[in-house]
Amino acid sequence: MTTLINGKETGQTIQTQIKKEVEDLVKKGIAPCLAVILVGDDPASQVYVRNKKRTCGELGILSVEHKLSAQTSQDELEGLVKKLNEDPSVHGILCQFPLPKGLDEDRVIHTISTDKDVDGLHPFNVGLLATGKPRFISCTPWGVMQLLKHAGIQTEGKHAVVLGRSNLVGRPLSILLSEKAANCTVTVCHSRTQNLAAVTSQADILVAAIGRPEYVTKEMVKPGAVVIDVGINRIDDASAPKGSRLVGDVAFEEVAEKAEAITPVPGGVGPMTIAMLMANTVNASRFQNGLEPMQI
Ligand SMILES: NC(=O)c1ccc[n+]([C@@H]2O[C@H](COP(=O)([O-])OP(=O)(O)OC[C@H]3O[C@@H](n4cnc5c(N)ncnc54)[C@H](OP(=O)(O)O)[C@@H]3O)[C@@H](O)[C@H]2O)c1
Repeated sequence: MTTLINGKETGQTIQTQIKKEVEDLVKKGIAPCLAVILVGDDPASQVYVRNKKRTCGELGILSVEHKLSAQTSQDELEGLVKKLNEDPSVHGILCQFPLPKGLDEDRVIHTISTDKDVDGLHPFNVGLLATGKPRFISCTPWGVMQLLKHAGIQTEGKHAVVLGRSNLVGRPLSILLSEKAANCTVTVCHSRTQNLAAVTSQADILVAAIGRPEYVTKEMVKPGAVVIDVGINRIDDASAPKGSRLVGDVAFEEVAEKAEAITPVPGGVGPMTIAMLMANTVNASRFQNGLEPMQI
């Protein structure tokens, strides 16, 4: 029987813990606050920002949205980030990506205070992660690790294959899986990997983060593997109410027949990403007040 790894349920469990933590912080006079910057009017980004703000509200975390037009200059955007860096009432800063053409995401990441970098993308925080002393971990990779932990998946000594090497998902996840807390042997694959199926079919734990709809088929998966699908892809489907639907990077139905455990899309990694953003925001407020991070 294949186990369905339920990110919605696990995300909810973590959010319940965070809500309690926020209540305790508020009693101490600390009101965790996330500033979200949205530039332009990309519909997907608007939905993501709305969801993040809604979750903040549900957990008692304050959120302030800064909506900027697509014509905003790099200097204006960085000026806002610098203002938020200086504002003691703001603990976390998130700039929703992708930015409109002409704006440099790396420069924005580098401008965010390393103490308020709740997306964990600043090179300083990536460096802390790479040296085994993480402060803020990128939300999706951290969410994947929490999913494995909550699902009781043994990682020690297992061969983990990560498909994708982006700074947002694949690379930080490969670091986390190789750290002593997980003790996996890790292989990272990318678009130039040769004989991909031969590599992926050796994986005890296979993570797909490539942004290619239903790319991972059953031939690429070892029987009994744990399969984590990070991908979120919208595909046309005339039979769906909106004429389209979301699928992952894994051909779910056929791979589920072969895997020991698998995450669905939606309802797998997605809800974990938002839960970990909330955890990073709370930890940012704790850090800025000289407190140890909450343990999840
Ligand atoms: N669930 C969530 O909360 C969440 C969060 C973030 C992202 N996502 C989703 O996760 C997916 C990946 O996101 P991302 O930001 O990491 O994407 P990305 O920046 O586009 O990186 C994709 C990575 O996949 C590799 N790749 C592409 N095609 C490949 C192929 N055919 N075979 C092997 N490797 C291939 C690329 O290789 P090269 O380096 O060689 O180009 C790259 O390293 C997307 O679907 C995204 O929507 C989901």
